[in-house]
Amino acid sequence: MGFRSLTKFTAFTVVLVFMLYCFTFRSTAYDPLDPNGNITIKWDIMTWTPDGYVAVVTMYNFQQYRHIQAPGWSLGWTWAEKELIWNMIGSQTTEQGDCSRFKGNIPHCCKKDPTVVDLLPGTPYNQQVANCCKGGVLNSWGQDPANAASSFQLSVGAAGTTNKTVRVPRNFTLKAPGPGYTCGPTKVSKPSKFFSQDGRRVTQPMMTWNVICTYSQFLDQKAPTCCVSLSSFYNDTIVPCPTCTCGCQNNSTQPGNCVDPNPPYLPSIFSSPAKNSYAPLVKCTSHMCPIRIHWHVKLNSKEYWQVQVTITNFNYRMNYTQWNLVVQHPNFDNLTQFFGINYKPLTPYASINDTAMLWGIKFYNDVLMQAGPLGLGNVQLELLFRKDKSTFTFEKGWPFPRRIYFNGDNCGMPPPDAYPYLPKTSSR
Ligand SMILES: *[C@@H]1O[C@H](CO)[C@@H](O)[C@H](O)[C@H]1NC(C)=O
Ligand SMILES: *[C@@H]1O[C@H](CO)[C@@H](O)[C@H](O)[C@H]1NC(C)=O
Ligand SMILES: *[C@@H]1O[C@H](CO)[C@@H](O)[C@H](O)[C@H]1NC(C)=O
Ligand SMILES: *[C@@H]1O[C@H](CO)[C@@H](O)[C@H](O)[C@H]1NC(C)=O
Ligand SMILES: *[C@@H]1O[C@H](CO)[C@@H](O)[C@H](O)[C@H]1NC(C)=O
Ligand SMILES: *[C@@H]1O[C@H](CO)[C@@H](O)[C@H](O)[C@H]1NC(C)=O
Ligand SMILES: *[C@@H]1O[C@H](CO)[C@@H](O)[C@H](O)[C@H]1NC(C)=O
Ligand SMILES: *[C@@H]1O[C@H](CO)[C@@H](O)[C@H](O)[C@H]1NC(C)=O
Repeated sequence: MGFRSLTKFTAFTVVLVFMLYCFTFRSTAYDPLDPNGNITIKWDIMTWTPDGYVAVVTMYNFQQYRHIQAPGWSLGWTWAEKELIWNMIGSQTTEQGDCSRFKGNIPHCCKKDPTVVDLLPGTPYNQQVANCCKGGVLNSWGQDPANAASSFQLSVGAAGTTNKTVRVPRNFTLKAPGPGYTCGPTKVSKPSKFFSQDGRRVTQPMMTWNVICTYSQFLDQKAPTCCVSLSSFYNDTIVPCPTCTCGCQNNSTQPGNCVDPNPPYLPSIFSSPAKNSYAPLVKCTSHMCPIRIHWHVKLNSKEYWQVQVTITNFNYRMNYTQWNLVVQHPNFDNLTQFFGINYKPLTPYASINDTAMLWGIKFYNDVLMQAGPLGLGNVQLELLFRKDKSTFTFEKGWPFPRRIYFNGDNCGMPPPDAYPYLPKTSSR
């Protein structure tokens, strides 16, 4: 009885969450702020071999702002027949599988459904190909096109040796490293073009296959990883991040789910040998988020108004390199001035045209440092907007953002009725 009503309740909650989700994002299949964003996998067959072929596989992250961060991507597929991998350069399969039928020359992998991961930086040169060996990190095309591709080479055996007899690998899966990406069917496409260094000769592979993978926040289903707090010069109230945005402090059932910054707790973490773990280790706060974005309305003059944005890292285990913010705000189609920051409007001609992406400048503020014994890592940005007299107002929370993403994750916002407002007596 109790179990039954619990199931009912859960089903109801799931339906409700789903409806809310559809309402907010209209579609579950894609991100409205990056409607064409995808990761394209190209499988170029470079040469035929006596029993198969050598291919170069390249992943292009054609997304505006969503990176794949450490610990990086893993790519899987299912062979159509009895194919196997003789060897790989620039990556490796996580398992070799059962190669017991071989004598002498042992393949790299005999599994029907191999899973491939990138090699780490510092791999010997003779095991590298171009764009490999970045520990699976893949930056977005919108922010860092020079690092938006990842490649590896593999030699496939027991495969066809002509373009009529080879079979496409199927059911690609891309983990980043969690769920979130869905890959479409493998398609035969126009051969890639490779340009020689001096650009005077173009070569092409024997065959090219394409797979397109898209991201869905709905599939990812992870708890928020960031939250937003607000303040302004015209009201002393600081509106904090909502309590338990990213989790709750639970000191009895889950001791150690966060770190008390006071001695002796914190120093003990840094003195014990570093564990190679990517699970966030956050400072104890009421919101429990690794990242907080504070939006402060700082200045109001006749022509301009100014905002100071502070990104704070509460995570003791992660440096966020190549961080980015996506901000939706009525004035964001036309930011007037910005200091020490890259700015790019997103989908400027679509229905959501008040959104922009902000990110740091290389070697200046593109790294959001981990929290440490001496304090939290942070980055501060100054944004200056020209006042559009027809829309500008300090009322109804207008100078505050509607939505903020940090590295592609939607951040928890305070409820609109909590936003700081103008004192009633003010005539401004
Ligand atoms: C994938 O991204 C590329 C580059 O932006 C774009 O040309 C292509 O149309 C996209 N494909 C899909 C199916 O969205
Ligand atoms: C295979 O190669 C032949 C010529 O060598 C070409 O005409 C044909 O279009 C190719 N087929 C595919 C699927 O690439
Ligand atoms: C690929 O996935 C589909 C559906 O998930 C399944 O029906 C099919 O058998 C799979 N193909 C292979 C070769 O595993
Ligand atoms: C820990 O839990 C106890 C009882 O559950 C509570 O009284 C105490 O305030 C909690 N401490 C913190 C730091 O949350
Ligand atoms: C973050 O960067 C600092 C300084 O470069 C380095 O000492 C630290 O080990 C890095 N942390 C991680 C988790 O990589
Ligand atoms: C952006 O602002 C400039 C002046 O700062 C103005 O000339 C321009 O028309 C504005 N563009 C849009 C799309 O509003
Ligand atoms: C931005 O969107 C609004 C409403 O969705 C529209 O009225 C306006 O013309 C758009 N601006 C541009 C530059 O497309
Ligand atoms: C500031 O805003 C808060 C709402 O966040 C409100 O409760 C408070 O009264 C405001 N302060 C003044 C002086 O109006």
